Amino acid sequence: MKKVLVWDWPVRVMHWLMAILFSGLIITGNINADVMDWHFYMGYGLSAVIVARVLYGLVGSRFARFTQFIYHPIDTFKYLKTLLTGRGKHYLGHNPVGGLMVIALLIAMTIQWLTGLFNSDEVFWFGPFYNWGTDYIWEMSASLHRQLPDVLLILIALHILAVLYHEVRFKERLIGSMIHGKKPIQNSAEHQQEEGEARTPRVGVIISLLLSLAWLAWLWSIPF
Ligand code: HEM
Repeated sequence: MKKVLVWDWPVRVMHWLMAILFSGLIITGNINADVMDWHFYMGYGLSAVIVARVLYGLVGSRFARFTQFIYHPIDTFKYLKTLLTGRGKHYLGHNPVGGLMVIALLIAMTIQWLTGLFNSDEVFWFGPFYNWGTDYIWEMSASLHRQLPDVLLILIALHILAVLYHEVRFKERLIGSMIHGKKPIQNSAEHQQEEGEARTPRVGVIISLLLSLAWLAWLWSIPF
């Protein structure tokens, strides 16, 4: 079966960076205050990766673009139904439910790092945006930053279970595709999509990388 490139290298690098940094943040957020500087730096890193991923969703390769995987809610619901009853339609990029999960993960992680920037333990550690907060913002940030990881862990568990479900039930090698980037073309309709296999746009990479590095440098320059 012919394989085509679906997840180009920026999507794959950003995916595994998100997974590594998120895991590091969960660990450092739960140990003690001694590793809080690591928690800060990893949070800055995750925010920069997400800024880059959102920009790449606008100016990136074919299957990385939001327009490729944001579907109408009715299509998403229909797809979910076919998934439960049997083999749903095959998508080369994200299927409608997978696309929805990507958006949910990106939004939830963004709220998580954004609230972290305003957060503080009121003793030693003050997030870089702490001084710009108000009582309301400090309280809301503290509460969201404490509670959202549980929601994120549930979303990530569902994300991994969905990937494993496709691997076991439909023998789709999705994990491998997030490593080498390629997926097999399974039917003639997809054959026509071959033309549009992921090609990495140099300008898109430069825009996403430069703006996210500028964001990271600015965060780094604020004392905490
Ligand atoms: C903290 C952990 C993780 C986070 C935050 C995360 C997040 C994401 C996001 C945002 C995407 C969309 C990729 C994109 O379009 O840029 C994605 C896709 C994907 N992830 Fe993860 N992920 C995590 C862990 C994992 C793990 C451990 C696996 C492997 C078991 C995995 C396998 C995949 C696969 C195979 C896809 C592509 C699914 C498809 O083909 O539609 N992820 N993940």
